[in-house]
Amino acid sequence: MSLLAQKPPMGWNSWNTFGEHISEDLIKEMADVMARDYLKAGYEYLVIDDCWSLMERDEAGRLVADPKKFPHGMKAVADYVHSKGLKFGMYSCAGVRTCAGYPSSYDHEFVDAATFAGWGVDFLKYDFCNFPTTGDCRMRYQMMSMALKASGRDILFSACNWGVEEPWHWMRSVGTHMYRSTGDIQDNFVSFTDIVKSQLDKFCDSAPGCYNDIDMLTVGMYGKGNVGLGQPCNDSEYKMQFALWCMLSAPLMMGADLRNLSETAKALMLNQELIRINQDPECRPPIVVSKVSDWGESYVLFKHLADNEFALGLFNFSDKKRNVQAIFADFGLPESAGYGLELKDAFTGEEAGLCHDYLIRELESHDCTVLVGRMKAR
Ligand code: GLA
Repeated sequence: MSLLAQKPPMGWNSWNTFGEHISEDLIKEMADVMARDYLKAGYEYLVIDDCWSLMERDEAGRLVADPKKFPHGMKAVADYVHSKGLKFGMYSCAGVRTCAGYPSSYDHEFVDAATFAGWGVDFLKYDFCNFPTTGDCRMRYQMMSMALKASGRDILFSACNWGVEEPWHWMRSVGTHMYRSTGDIQDNFVSFTDIVKSQLDKFCDSAPGCYNDIDMLTVGMYGKGNVGLGQPCNDSEYKMQFALWCMLSAPLMMGADLRNLSETAKALMLNQELIRINQDPECRPPIVVSKVSDWGESYVLFKHLADNEFALGLFNFSDKKRNVQAIFADFGLPESAGYGLELKDAFTGEEAGLCHDYLIRELESHDCTVLVGRMKAR
């Protein structure tokens, strides 16, 4: 029996950095780096996004890889990616043209799914541009789901309709394994925090088998590349972005150029404790305690993990250094309970001891702390 997406999918996608500038050589180089440095940590899907095909289908109505970008065809690329122990992902769209204007799968669902399966594709990102006004969004995702199943290959179905028709209510039922719930991320603080804030109360249906996807990470882009728009994130903002994706058990698709990633960004995305929180088998969304005051915005996230563990995240969204306070009564542990949490810092491994009643951390602007631990009698 094959069970896809039992944990939040992890991998890399070409869009954030490269946009249309993709090629066989680039994908092979990325596969080499992924296999060498990231596969062991769990990043297994290498996904080519939009702009890979010719502008027209062939005589049999099939999509054709652009021979200038992929001179040996897509099967050869898939074979190379597989030879590195990775899984291979591709992109199409539910509308009549992709977002960048390439041919797309509306009314070609079954032939395209068969083409992808024939090439050895393991993951399909399925976008929503140029969708007919009279089209039925849910039915078209359902149709592609059926087409992928008919193809005879296990293909993880990554829907990307940006939250249209509230996909958190129905995407699981049409067989997808993850669904983009927001518009496109940009490599700046406002973009990724707006995305998170819009989804914080929509993660209860995100669970093994089908996840709320809040887009590819921008960690390590530093403003370079296709979505490098606005004031680029700094390292502390990347730390916050990664911590939020992990606390939400959202899919972890890297978007930066892995060939020359900074050591800080690399260490962050390889942080085993944070990945363990993301990949926790229960995939529960956190309890959210938010505070918006004259001082700015802060969030405390409390996440149940499997095996009676817990993760506690403190986030300073404001533009000033400030104290962020977690009041344990907010997650069912008032002083009178007689229990506290024995915590350690997920980033540094530093022990925080037996904490109870409340915890205060002084956090720089846009910084965060994530702690993990277990309950203990005081
Ligand atoms: C949409 C998607 C992006 C990316 C582009 C490609 O904007 O949301 O993630 O796939 O299309 O054109």
